[in-house]
Amino acid sequence: MSRVAYVNGQYVPHAEASVHVEDRGYQFADGVYEVCEVRDGHLVDERRHLDRLDRSLKELRITPPMARGPLGVVLRETVARNRVRDGLVYMQVTRGVARRDHAFPAEGTPASLVVTSRSVNFAANDRAAESGIKVITMPDNRWERVDIKTVGLLPNVLAKQAAKEAGAKEAWFVDAAGNVTEGSSTNAWIVTADGVLVTRSADHGILRGITRTVLFDLAAQEQLRIEERAFTRAEAMAAREAFISSATNLVMPVVSIDGAKIGDGKPGPMARRLRERYHAYAEVSA
Ligand code: PDD
Repeated sequence: MSRVAYVNGQYVPHAEASVHVEDRGYQFADGVYEVCEVRDGHLVDERRHLDRLDRSLKELRITPPMARGPLGVVLRETVARNRVRDGLVYMQVTRGVARRDHAFPAEGTPASLVVTSRSVNFAANDRAAESGIKVITMPDNRWERVDIKTVGLLPNVLAKQAAKEAGAKEAWFVDAAGNVTEGSSTNAWIVTADGVLVTRSADHGILRGITRTVLFDLAAQEQLRIEERAFTRAEAMAAREAFISSATNLVMPVVSIDGAKIGDGKPGPMARRLRERYHAYAEVSA
């Protein structure tokens, strides 16, 4: 089955899908993106992802390429044309195409919109969650506005590659004060000795993950104790459990950090429970 991508108004064969050489996403990473889980052909947490997309665009003063209604249609159409039942849909908006100049292009230059969709083997993901993953830590060398989901991901790319080369699945960034911020493409969590869920506050230094937000709802409904605060690498290494969260990983247990075992070195009960319960709290679109 051949894949299809949506590029600026057209559905084109994936292999031929391209943007202009002077697209500002390509030249300046002047753009934003979202990744939304697809389950059973439906978009998961679409409303929240599109809210965050709006926020990212607003923060960067990029005019949205289309209204939310038509965008929802394009997302669904891309999922359908690629026959994705379980997987993800990726959308990227850049400040458009213009002669290379760092300053913004002329008023009225249309934003570029690209949407792709592909299947994800969630069964393999479930198997990974059965054994848990390893993470390494690295100094956080990103800019201060990581709350905006920009396509400027070079530090994240280098961190993920370092993790891969170390035999790990994720890299956790650690700030100058020794606190864990987040993973290269996931939010970071620990569970303390007395069973409290801890994740860094989202006002500074991290992306406010949609999965993270849903986990707050889950915790509130199921009377789990949760603290939004900074935690150090040392606290994480001594934690009872650790895990990561993102749209495609959901809740993925972490069993070692920089080679040191977390808890008994197996996925913890809290992470398992949150993973099992996640879809009971996520929003599924029509
Ligand atoms: N990553 N932190 C970072 C730096 C991320 O890139 C992501 C998402 C998250 C988790 O956000 P959410 O729960 O909304 O997926 C946290 C996406 C999946 C990616 O880059 O592929």
